[in-house]
Amino acid sequence: MNEANYILNAEQLDRVSLAQQLLIHAEALLRDESDFIANCANLSSLVYHSLPQLNWCGFYFLRGNELVLGPFAGKPACTRIRLDRGVCGAAATQRSIQCVDDVHSFPGHIACDPSSRSELVIPIIVETQFVGVFDLDAPILARFDDADIELCSSLLNLLLRFSSSESRSRLHT
Ligand code: SME
Repeated sequence: MNEANYILNAEQLDRVSLAQQLLIHAEALLRDESDFIANCANLSSLVYHSLPQLNWCGFYFLRGNELVLGPFAGKPACTRIRLDRGVCGAAATQRSIQCVDDVHSFPGHIACDPSSRSELVIPIIVETQFVGVFDLDAPILARFDDADIELCSSLLNLLLRFSSSESRSRLHT
């Protein structure tokens, strides 16, 4: 299949089917490539274009004591996030998923795009080591729920399964 054809049409599928299809498409898109950054880039694009009501989706990676922008889909975003700032910083320091229904009520939220209203940030942890975060933004309140958390966690598992640890470790050199 041509890479662009992996994108799903959310309007033609119910939510459960969309999630199932997205996992199948993600596996097909990632399984023949071992480069972590290349797979992060394609996963960002696949999720951004397949899930409804997102205005940004992408990665930040830990570099020193800050998070640095990685592959993403959507408008240009802040390049560096201090660990004591924002929803991403909270996910990094607490190593916990942050599902924020209203970003305006989250202390320290960083508004890269003022149209963002809710946000889901999932920390990426490999063998107890914090690597970075997968961040999704939505232009509506309370866009994300447990089903999105489960789906994104499964997508990240695929990403880690098919990407070599060698290509991932280059992030920290
Ligand atoms: N809103 C995030 C910053 C990253 S952007 O959403 C792309 C935060 O508060 O950490």
